[in-house]
Amino acid sequence: MKTTRIIGLIFCLLITAAVIPVQIKAQTLKENAALDQKVEKFLADHSERWYDMNIPTADGKTIYDLIIKGNYKSALEIGTSTGHSGIYIAWALSKTGGKLITIDIDEERHKTALENFKKAGLSDYIDSRLADAHQLVKELKGPFDFVFSDADKNWYKNYFMDVDPKLKVGGCFTTHNISERRRMGEGDYLEYVRSLKNYESTLNTAGGGLLITYKRTEK
Ligand SMILES: C[S@@+](CC[C@H](N)C(=O)[O-])C[C@H]1O[C@@H](n2cnc3c(N)ncnc32)[C@H](O)[C@@H]1O
Repeated sequence: MKTTRIIGLIFCLLITAAVIPVQIKAQTLKENAALDQKVEKFLADHSERWYDMNIPTADGKTIYDLIIKGNYKSALEIGTSTGHSGIYIAWALSKTGGKLITIDIDEERHKTALENFKKAGLSDYIDSRLADAHQLVKELKGPFDFVFSDADKNWYKNYFMDVDPKLKVGGCFTTHNISERRRMGEGDYLEYVRSLKNYESTLNTAGGGLLITYKRTEK
């Protein structure tokens, strides 16, 4: 009888330990129904209007879910374009209490992105920089816990190597337009990142090929 009770008690404790962290994470998400409505309307109104190498909606949703699931707060995007991916990232960060730094070298696209971020109601969550990411990614201090790399493909490996020391353990580095077939520089990048023992990657093919890479340990 006594043994049964002890086993029952241990079982209850294990269940509680598994459930409590999920509840805490859910409770810490900031809900803002008015902002959700504004973002959803903006995305619906613009669903057919992304002409600047922007990510497909499926990838936007995946990125959004990754940030919420990881409770990430300090995000970096390399390659803003006109802001489609930035909107999904910033929307998720508005719930986790985080902020995004996004970089693009093209002035026109940078300007359009600023307008789009404003229209979507997300400007407060975004620090949008007009700069050459080759230089700026090296200079940014971090630390970051979420990265979306979507600029010049032949520089992917360099971006990753520059961010690596500034990416927190448990952080997530995502890279767009990755496929198992080699094309430009992303083939070398894929091989490189898969060779690292402290990172774990999976390729999500729901949209344009999203490599999701988690940092498991520092070295
Ligand atoms: C594929 S688009 C990004 C799409 C964007 N992530 C989206 O889904 O809305 C790539 C962008 O990277 C930018 N880019 C290319 N080389 C760059 C560099 N060296 N520094 C900063 N931005 C760069 C381009 O100007 C372009 O707008």
